[in-house]
Amino acid sequence: SIAKLAKLATIASILAASFNVFAEPVEIKFSHVVAENTPKGQMALKFKELIEQRLPGEYVVNVFPNSQLFGDNNELAALLLNDVQFVAPSLSKFERYTKKLQIFDLPFLFEDMAAVDRFQQSESGQKLLNSMNRKGVVGLGYLHNGMKQFSANDPLTLPKDANGKKFRIMASDVIAAQFDAVGAIPVKKPFSEVFTLLQTRAIDGQENTWSNTYSMKFYEVQSHITESNHGVLDYMVVSSNTFWKGLPADKRAVFKTALDEAIALGNKIAAEKDNEDRQAIIDSKRSQLVTLTQADRQQWVNAMKPVWAKFEDQIGKDMIDAAVAANT
Ligand code: LMR
Repeated sequence: SIAKLAKLATIASILAASFNVFAEPVEIKFSHVVAENTPKGQMALKFKELIEQRLPGEYVVNVFPNSQLFGDNNELAALLLNDVQFVAPSLSKFERYTKKLQIFDLPFLFEDMAAVDRFQQSESGQKLLNSMNRKGVVGLGYLHNGMKQFSANDPLTLPKDANGKKFRIMASDVIAAQFDAVGAIPVKKPFSEVFTLLQTRAIDGQENTWSNTYSMKFYEVQSHITESNHGVLDYMVVSSNTFWKGLPADKRAVFKTALDEAIALGNKIAAEKDNEDRQAIIDSKRSQLVTLTQADRQQWVNAMKPVWAKFEDQIGKDMIDAAVAANT
């Protein structure tokens, strides 16, 4: 009879659920704002591959690049709503959740990426991964992109060349202060809008890594790029406390290992792209490279370094000292 069949079906579904037989894999979302052919894009795809290989049938990881799912203005809010489980915003985009990470935006703080890496891996750097725990955001690791360069539609050789020009910046008060310091006009805008803003000349310039400048084609709509290496653009891979702590401990361990391996690959790609994308931009001849003499660069340092003092209380002098110490 129908009643009997229904009863059998119910029993079968209870059995299936308890033995996890016909259960659908859990969908995990990883959302980011850059292209796939970037350190972050490749890192996210590696993470997907490793999870699906190591926990087959249990999880699928869907990666959404290019601000397709969430952009700069909503990815962290979406994380806390569990609409996405992993994001990796640049360290400049956590200001609403902690002031401590502002350290990474201080101009001319790190001499090179090796110094950035030493600081991130130090006790101070590792402590910063927990700086948003009370806000429900858990830091799982740092990922490199590279040092930032200035670009504009005029050569920027000395700080006075930036005077009065509008620059797109990430949503960071430190970066705003950095441009204020040379009389420029910083404009906070999401990454997804930068190309159009440059193309239409609504803004004059921007700052970014070689990888982002290349993958987003900013070099096609900027006549000059100044090789300034004035700051770092790196990421923190984050999840929400709710999602992360809600994972069974054994699965969480698999996720963490996969993430560490994916980050290691992403860092390797970051180092490679920094050279390759720089060269590809030079070879394209769409944009001209401005090289600074030591004396020119010193003028930028003198103009921008006073920004540190403005944020010292929020960041902590001990932190800044630890970062400076990582240079040697
Ligand atoms: C930017 O907004 O310029 C970068 O943070 C984009 C990114 O994620 O690399």
